[in-house]
Amino acid sequence: MCGIVGAIAQRNITPILLEGLRRLEYRGYDSAGVAVLASDGSIQRVRAVGKVIELEKALEAAPAGGHLGIAHTRWATHGKPAEHNAHPHLSQRLAIVHNGIIENHAPLRKRLIDLGYSFTSETDTEVVAHLLAHYYGEKKDLLEAFRATLGDIHGAYALAIIHQDQPETLYCARAGSPLVIGEGSDEHYLASDPLALLQVTDRFRYLEEGDYARITRTGCDIWSRDHQVAERPVKRYEHAAHSLEKGEYRHYMLKEIFEQPDAISDTLAGTLGDDHVLTAVLGPEAETRLGEIRNIHIVACGTSYHAGLVARYWIEEQAGIPCQVEVASEYRYRTVVVPDGTLLITISQSGETADTLAALRYAKDQGYLATLAICNVAGSSLVREADWRLLTHAGPEIGVASTKAFTTQLVALLWLTTALVQVRGGDAALVARNVAALRSLPGLVLQALGLEPQITALAERFANKHHALFLGRGPHYPIAMEGALKLKEISYIHAEAYAAGELKHGPLALVDEDMPVVSVAPSDSLLEKLKSNLEEVRARGGQLITFACETVEHHDDSNSVTYTLPWVEDCISPVLYTIPLQLLSYHVALVKGTDVDKPRNLAKSVTVE
Ligand code: G6P
Repeated sequence: MCGIVGAIAQRNITPILLEGLRRLEYRGYDSAGVAVLASDGSIQRVRAVGKVIELEKALEAAPAGGHLGIAHTRWATHGKPAEHNAHPHLSQRLAIVHNGIIENHAPLRKRLIDLGYSFTSETDTEVVAHLLAHYYGEKKDLLEAFRATLGDIHGAYALAIIHQDQPETLYCARAGSPLVIGEGSDEHYLASDPLALLQVTDRFRYLEEGDYARITRTGCDIWSRDHQVAERPVKRYEHAAHSLEKGEYRHYMLKEIFEQPDAISDTLAGTLGDDHVLTAVLGPEAETRLGEIRNIHIVACGTSYHAGLVARYWIEEQAGIPCQVEVASEYRYRTVVVPDGTLLITISQSGETADTLAALRYAKDQGYLATLAICNVAGSSLVREADWRLLTHAGPEIGVASTKAFTTQLVALLWLTTALVQVRGGDAALVARNVAALRSLPGLVLQALGLEPQITALAERFANKHHALFLGRGPHYPIAMEGALKLKEISYIHAEAYAAGELKHGPLALVDEDMPVVSVAPSDSLLEKLKSNLEEVRARGGQLITFACETVEHHDDSNSVTYTLPWVEDCISPVLYTIPLQLLSYHVALVKGTDVDKPRNLAKSVTVE
């Protein structure tokens, strides 16, 4: 997705902008550009299609330096990836970068053409550039012109602007797309994600929805949507910069898979008593009102949606609370029936996913008891806009394919289920069992990671495969879905997941000696049922790859192979069985030679609809 970086300092800010763009590369983009106010007072703009390295090469050919500038990585929405569509866009004496979508760009474009403006791109962003130039011509005051522009545009945006007439000032605004102002020593920065600026600061002001700001080297003025002066406190970013390095690992994804024992420990820190959970971590209001919940709706996208699907099994079985789970892109556009006492839970790694955020905003008017965000980014929009929050502490996740964010979401959701059982005066033995199981998870995950050498060898078998099936039952059905999604995302092998009982209703027709069938087979009450389903595959010559509990007998032959995991309590086995599936997709991607951390066409944080 698009990324924004801006800076104002006494020194040359081009290196800060480029390093910021490099740090945003993991989000996925197709072109990049910078605009810098040069010492002669002109705006120098350089843009390039492809990776940031292409922009760096272009800058070597045409150096641009100065003390004020903005930069951007673009992920095409309006107009194909091409240099003329890359940001920054110029109009008269200003330059602008934009994340998001201006929904009324078409009528505005027509209006501006009628006023005599000509367009050099197909983007919605250039409309904002000309509109601002137009209002500046009328009002002769950039702040007033900016206000008028913001009043005319509808949609989702984060904007950053520089103008030749104000060589000491950077302007910005956010509505529906995140933006933070970073504070340095006698310099200020701007970015769509604090990660972009961790090389220069760990102090940030998080702009709220509708905020706009004027930033100088020494300070910033912020106004809210209704033009009132707004105070946005400086907060320290909590993750250390070194956690952003790949270290000894070949890819971020592998590093993040191996960070899971620590990520789970960090997420559980301060949340568990001896035999009970410490609900205070939810905050005073949530803690006291947890007992009022009669119903739960969970809304999320992608991998986070899969975490929600697992949680439904836990919440209904253990807490006895009806629970439904839905993808945010559907939920936000339908009429929902919200029974009294319903809690809405949104789950998101980034806290900026456009559909999930829109779903939360939609839910605000639907009569929910409260909204709860489960999220890995404390300062994200989702966390700030939800009534209650439950943070995961996975640390920054750079690989596009989510791994440690997913398992920590599962941990947070099992913890929440346990909290619900506890406050409702449920089975104390169950609560104690869950607590003990959660405590044992980091060690068990470490053991599961020990399967890597075997899985590396297994991955070779996928070298020539174009399709794969994943099977599971109960809460391991969503784990099979997550396994299939991982394989699709990074190895580009078409993979589908089925509840194993559904096999005979269609997908069995696909099974032959070329079809790998990966199944998740822990030792639970559904194991015998699953085994019968697997026999249906074996009888048709399918290639069975089974992840099973070490306590269960298995018979491998030339068409089937089993990998074993330690016995665990049922409640935590979805977390454990996720690990080999992550390793499998990673090693298959290596065999296929794909771009593991930045798979084609995908973005880490999908901040547009
Ligand atoms: C993108 C990412 C996925 C992620 C999904 C939801 O598609 O590539 O890895 O699961 O967005 O993101 P969120 O940040 O809301 O969890």
